[in-house]
This record gives sequence, C-alpha cells and structure tokens, in this order.
Amino acid sequence: MAQLTWHGHATFGLKTDSGHRVIIDPFLDDNPRCDVSVEDIDELDFILCTHGHEDHFADAIPLAKKTGAMLISTYEIVSYAGTQGVQNLHPMHIGGGHRFPFGHAKMTPALHGGQVAGEGAGPYTTMPGGFLLDMDGKRLYHAGDTALIVDMQLLRGRVDVALLPIGDNFTMGPEDAVRAVEFIEPGVVIPMHYGTWEVIDQDPHAFADAVGDRARTVVLEPGATWEF
Ligand code: NI
Ligand code: MN
Repeated sequence: MAQLTWHGHATFGLKTDSGHRVIIDPFLDDNPRCDVSVEDIDELDFILCTHGHEDHFADAIPLAKKTGAMLISTYEIVSYAGTQGVQNLHPMHIGGGHRFPFGHAKMTPALHGGQVAGEGAGPYTTMPGGFLLDMDGKRLYHAGDTALIVDMQLLRGRVDVALLPIGDNFTMGPEDAVRAVEFIEPGVVIPMHYGTWEVIDQDPHAFADAVGDRARTVVLEPGATWEF
C-alpha cells in the first residue's frame, strides 16, 4: 500500500512499498499551509511537476539540487531546470507515459496557464498537465490545475484515487469538481488546491457532502498521511 501525504495546496508526498519517495508539485517554503520545508527533506527520489506556476514548481529546483531526486515534468519545464543546474531530469509530455522505478507515470491534459516561473525562465512556457500514476497496484490521478474538461471522461472507471482541485478562481471550483467526479467515477476523491489563500477558501466537508455516494471523499489536513 502506497502512503500519500498531503502537504497543503497541490503538494503530495508518496512512498511506495518498494521505498521510493516521490513528491508532486512541491510548494513548501512559501505555502502558508505546508507542514514541511525544503530544509526538512533530505531523502527524495522523484519530483513530479504538473506545470510551471510558482505554487507548483517553486521548490522543485531547490529540492532537486539538495537531494539529487529526478525531476519529471514537461519537456519545457525540464529544459528550464537544466539551465538552472539540475542534472537528474526526465522530460515527457501530455499523452506520454513512462515506467519509472516507483511505477508508471503518464501525463494528462489540463486546461490552465503555461507560464514557467523562475529567474531567466522568460522564454519557457509549457502546456500544463496532470499525472496518472500506477503504483503498488493502484492508479492515482493528480489533475494538476485545471478547469473541468471533457477529457476527464476518458478516465471513467480507470482511476482508484483522484486528487482534484476545488479552490475555484484559478481552477475548478467545488461544483465543477463534483462533475469531474461524475466524469471519472473514482473510488476515492481527495480535494486539493483550496484554503491556501482567502481567494481559494472552500469547505472540503461541504464538497464531500456534494460528492455524496458518487465516490468516497477523503479530506486530509496538511501533514496527514493516508494509505491506498
Ligand atoms: Ni497553476
Ligand atoms: Mn496552482
């Protein structure tokens, strides 16, 4: 059973049965609801970034440099990280999958902004995405930052655990996230990308009520670990 830890916002840590440690969308030091800092993390094997916005990418380069973890993201983000001295890199892109030691990762479409944040990142933009991760016999979907998109219907019945933004304003809000649950029909849905700032404040328990019996909703507090 893989262990999933929410660190607030869209940041999740994963530890597989085989002991591989993965972090998705690391936003630690400037994330007001995060329970860990870059300084706290010494051992890490893989860093996955859905897109280049500050609140998903800010600590990817510092963590990659500190731990030597492999950065896995779109070609453009990985290319930019290469200009910043990160050497352990794996570029991929939307629709493509690859098998890594922790499991299989495939990038999915997301409808969102393409900026890559960072010093000297001017020429870099990317298509934002999400990740479908097969690990320890389960499939996890991290939607990234996205609007409700009909592409999610392609995932129907194929996802065990869906991590969906509910914050509204920058991404889907709760109503559209419930429609995403209808599209995907996951076993479990975990809300994310809310509560970080006032503009994306949401009540995750109201979301759970709205999801009802369409899926089991697991509401995590930052720092909480859940096994799947
Ligand atoms: Ni974003
Ligand atoms: Mn975001």
